[in-house]
Amino acid sequence: MTNAGLEGVVVADTQISDVDGERGKLVIAGSDVEELAQATPFEAAVRQVLTAGGAPGEPITPAAIGGARAAAWELLPRLGDALDLPDGMDALGTALGHLRAGGGGAGAAIGPAAVTAAIAAIGAAPVFVAAWSRRRAGQPPIAPDPALGHAADYLRMTIGRGPDGSAVRALDAYLVTVIDHAMSASTFTARVIASTHADLISALVGAVGALKGPLHGGAPGPVLDMLDAIGQPAHAEAWLSGELSAGRRIMGMGHRVYRVRDPRAAVLETAVRPLASPRLPLARAVEQAAAKILRDTKPDRSLAANVEFYTAVLLDAVGLPREQFAPTFAVSRIAGWSAHVIEQHRTGRLIRPASQYVGARP
Ligand code: COA
Repeated sequence: MTNAGLEGVVVADTQISDVDGERGKLVIAGSDVEELAQATPFEAAVRQVLTAGGAPGEPITPAAIGGARAAAWELLPRLGDALDLPDGMDALGTALGHLRAGGGGAGAAIGPAAVTAAIAAIGAAPVFVAAWSRRRAGQPPIAPDPALGHAADYLRMTIGRGPDGSAVRALDAYLVTVIDHAMSASTFTARVIASTHADLISALVGAVGALKGPLHGGAPGPVLDMLDAIGQPAHAEAWLSGELSAGRRIMGMGHRVYRVRDPRAAVLETAVRPLASPRLPLARAVEQAAAKILRDTKPDRSLAANVEFYTAVLLDAVGLPREQFAPTFAVSRIAGWSAHVIEQHRTGRLIRPASQYVGARP
C-alpha cells in the first residue's frame, strides 16, 4: 500500500536530534531543546550538531564562523543577479550555489572538505540574506563584523545599527531552537541528495527549496499576516472559523509528528517575553482560540501550535521584516542540514524508495 507521506518510515540512524511527538520532547545532540536554547550560543550549538554528525570539533569555532561571514562578503560582487530575485529563499539558494567554486565542489563531497564547506555555508547564509533584504529595501549591504556573535552580526547587517542585547539574545535563542529537527522534509531532501555522494552545497541548495513551502518553513510570514488580519483577541474566533469554512488551514497550527504542542513554541514564547512585543498577547489569544476551534472541528486529530506560531512573533519583535522569516529559518537550519549531510556521507546508503505504477500498461 502507498504511504505517500512516508509517516513512520525510518530512513537513517542519527545522533543529531530526536523528536518525541507524543510527549512533545525534542533532544538536539544530547540536550533538551529548552536547555540548549537557554544555555548555548548559536556557534556552540553549531559545533554540537556538526560533531554529532561526525565532524571533528576543532575547526568549528566562533572565529571560523565569523571568518566565513567575512569570506562571503568578498563573494557578494560575484553572485550575479542572485540577490535581485524577489523571493528570499530563491536568492539564498542561488547565492549558496556560488560557494561550490570555493571548496564545496563535488570533489569535496566527503571528509574534512565537507566540514570546511559547511562552515563556509553557515557563515555565508546570514550575509547573503541580510544583503538580499537590504537590496529589496533599496539600501546598500553592510559588511559583517567577524568579531561579533552570529546572531548580533546578522541583525546588525539587516537593520543597520547595533541591535540591543535583548533582541540579540532572543534571536540567538531562536537560531538555536530551530537548528535541527530530525527527518523534516528539508533534512530528508538534503540526505537524499547527500546519499548520491553529491557535494554538501548541492544538498543545502536542495534543502532550501524544500524549506520554502508553506507547509514547512514558509508559514511564519502568513502567521503574522493572520495576526494582523485578526487585529484584536475578540475577533479571533470569527476570523478563524471563516478560514476553516473557506477550506483554508490555520497557519502555525498542526504538525506531522507532534500530537501535543510543539516544545519549540514554548521556548520561543519564553524567549520573546523580554522584548515586550505588542503582538504577544494577541498571539496567545489567537493560539487559544485556534486550538479550541480545531478541537471542535477536527476532533480526530490533535492540532496545536507549532514552532512557526511564535517564530513569527519573535522575528517580528527583533526587527526583521516578514519576507526574511523563512530565510532566517534557513540561516539556522543550514547547520542541521550540514550535520545530516556529513552523517549521511559517513553512514548512509543511496536513498532510493519505490513507487507503485498505476498508469496504463502496454
Ligand atoms: N488547520 C486546519 N486543519 C488542519 C491543519 C491546520 N493548520 N493542520 C492539519 N489540519 C487537518 C487537515 O485538514 C486534515 O483534516 P482532514 O483529515 O479532515 O482532511 C487533518 O488535519 C490531517 O492533516 P494532514 O494534512 O494529513 O496532516 P499533515 O501531517 O500532512 O500536516 C502540517 C502537517 C504541518 C502540514 C499541517 O498541520 C499544516 O498544514 N499546518 C499549517 C502550516 C504550518 O503551520 N506549517 C508549519 C509546520 S512546522
